[in-house]
Formats: sequence, structure tokens, C-alpha cells
Amino acid sequence: MPHEVQGVIARAKGEPVSVETILVPDPGPGEALVQVQACGVCHTDLHYREGGINDEFPFLLGHEAAGVVEAVGPDVSAVAAGDFVILNWRAVEGHCRACRRGEPWYCFDTHNATQKMTLADGTELSPALGIGAFAEKTLVAAGQCTKVDKRARPEAAGLLGCGVMAGFGAAVNTGEIGRGQSIAVIGCGGVGVAAIAGGRIAGATTIIAVDIDPRKLATATSMGATHTVNSAETDPVEAIRELTGGNGADVVIEAVGRPETYKQAFYARDLAGTLVQVGVPTPEMTIELPLIDLFGRGGALKSSWYGDCLPSRDFPMLIDLYLQGRFDLDAFVSETIGIGDVEAAFEKMHRGEVLRSVVLL
Ligand code: APR
Ligand code: ZN
Repeated sequence: MPHEVQGVIARAKGEPVSVETILVPDPGPGEALVQVQACGVCHTDLHYREGGINDEFPFLLGHEAAGVVEAVGPDVSAVAAGDFVILNWRAVEGHCRACRRGEPWYCFDTHNATQKMTLADGTELSPALGIGAFAEKTLVAAGQCTKVDKRARPEAAGLLGCGVMAGFGAAVNTGEIGRGQSIAVIGCGGVGVAAIAGGRIAGATTIIAVDIDPRKLATATSMGATHTVNSAETDPVEAIRELTGGNGADVVIEAVGRPETYKQAFYARDLAGTLVQVGVPTPEMTIELPLIDLFGRGGALKSSWYGDCLPSRDFPMLIDLYLQGRFDLDAFVSETIGIGDVEAAFEKMHRGEVLRSVVLL
């Protein structure tokens, strides 16, 4: 018997989202039914609503979530009913060429639930990032559930499922930041601030936050930035060089997703430094750089997919750091809201008023 619950639906491009009754099937082989407790509002949900991802409307939005497993399919052993889990949108399958060569965080064959959730009239839903968690229950692949310590607050824990993991991982996994290094983070929204927190935990001693919004720079300082640069007023490349003995930072993280900030990140690196791009650009964006600079400045230009995370390795570790008071996940929760408030949360996000609004279910 499918479960009848309420979910946040984007029916058509650009139209406000609505709360509707949806039908969630019982889990089949390889699947898990999850009672969602909390789900953060992310830019990607808004991109779906605006038709910026694909045209497969209607979408069931929400993908930054934590909850409790209600039931699992017949062959599932990794998680069980009652487990407190964080949902991930890159369930590693273990057999693709990336997994076989020992780099499962790149898994090229990640998977989602096979059965479809539907509207009450049977219309199939496309769940955002294969999750769809602005709903009291959702159906995912069992591999999308990572069990963590249930003492964590769901509204904080769920944020690891997307933006916070992306930023933290960009610093720690992709940037491989180490003790004593200098880093700069361009763009201090939820993703950039998580990169700052990651840099601090990894032992960076110079942590430069760059943003055009002074409110974001204040948050960055409270999360561990040692210096701030308002790039609406100051040339950030010059400022970062000045703060690093004239050299540039060892690692620069681009957390905006725009050509001009990518260029800033490129030139704000020390020679042989690393650029990590975690901000997601749109398809029409291009950049032009002198080829001699690409060669002459050396180092590494990397992109970070989902923080190059391995949920089974990284989620429990970050929850442990959180519970020990060493990683302030609560600081990312700007407000908790109801299931009917997602549209208003999109507005607040657009105005830059929040790191994350989190829906409690
Ligand atoms: N220079 C510096 N900072 C900028 C600029 C700019 N030209 N333009 C915007 N910003 C800042 C904003 O002021 C904001 O603080 O970048 C930040 C972006 O933060 P959010 O909008 O909250 O987005 P976030 O959730 O952090 O995601 C950032 O990472 O994973 C990707 O898709 C995500 O592309 C997005 C990026
Ligand atoms: Zn997201």
C-alpha cells in the first residue's frame, strides 16, 4: 500500500511551489522508505523550479535531509528500520571504473530508487537530485542513506547531505588543505562558510574570506576566517596576495560559480597553488585565460563534485566532530520553517538573508 503524505511540488517552470498529496510506494529491492525529519532549502531546489536543471516536471523538491528509516526492501542489509540517517545524492554502486580503481567518491554510476513516487492521480514525480525530501516520507535507494549518531539534531545533520558537505569537502578532500597552509574562499554562502570551517579543522592558519556582502563576511569570521575582504570595494587578488606575504594563497576555493570569481581564484593562488571550483556555473558561462599563465603559474585546477565526499566515510566523521563541539553545524541553520514556507524561503535565499532555512517535517 503506498503511503499518502504531503510534499512540496514544482508543477511548471517558474511557478510558485505548492504542497500536495503524494503517494510513496513501499520499498522494493535495494530501496529504503525514510520518514523525513528535516530538509534544508538549497539553490538547486530553486534551479529545478526555474527549469534550470531539466524539463521533467513535476518535481518533488528537497534533497538536504535527515530522517529515520521506516522500512527497507527485501535485500537491504546496510541500513535497517529505526536507523537515523542522512540522505546523499551520490550513492556509490561499487563496480564502475572509478570505483574499481579505488576512487569511489567519483562513482560514475550512482543510483536512486527504482520505483516512482506519484501525485494522487498517478502522475510520476521527478525527485530533486533523486531524493525529494520536502515530504513527510520519501523513497530512496538504500545506498542513499548513511547511518549517523542519532544524538545529532536532524535540522543540522541534514545539511551535510548537500551544501555543507560540498564546501567542507572542497577544502578538505579536493583541496587537501593541511596544517599551516594559507587558504582563501571566494563566496561565503553556506558552501563557502563550510569550506572555511573545513580549512580551520584541517589546520590552515591563514583563512581569507572574500564576499561582496558584509553580512556574509561577519558569518565567515565567526566560522573561522582570520581575514576578510569585501571584493565589492577591494581588488581581492591584490588583497589576498598582501595577506600572504605577496605570494598568494596555497589553496583558493571558488564558491560562487561565476567566470570573474574563477579568474580571481586563479590569480590569487601562489605559484604551484591549487584552485578548487565548487561553485556551479551555468552552461553559457565561459572564461578566457592566457595559455602562458595556465602553464607558468603551475599547480592544480580542480573541480569538486559534492565535495568529493564518500558519505559512508565523511557523514559519520562530521557528525562526530559536531557532537564533540568542534564543528558548529547549528550555525548553518538560520531558521526552521514549515512545509508550506518553501516559497518564502526561496525569497529569503535570493535576498541573501539566510545560510539555510530548514523545513521541519
Ligand atoms: N564575488 C564574491 N562573492 C560573491 C559574488 C562575487 N562576484 N557574487 C556573489 N557572491 C557571494 C554572495 O554574496 C553569497 O554570499 O557568494 C555567496 C553565494 O552564496 P549562496 O548564494 O548562499 O550559495 P551557496 O549555497 O553557498 O552555494 C554557492 O556553490 O554548490 C554551489 O550551486 C552552488 O553555485 C553555488 C555555490
Ligand atoms: Zn543542494
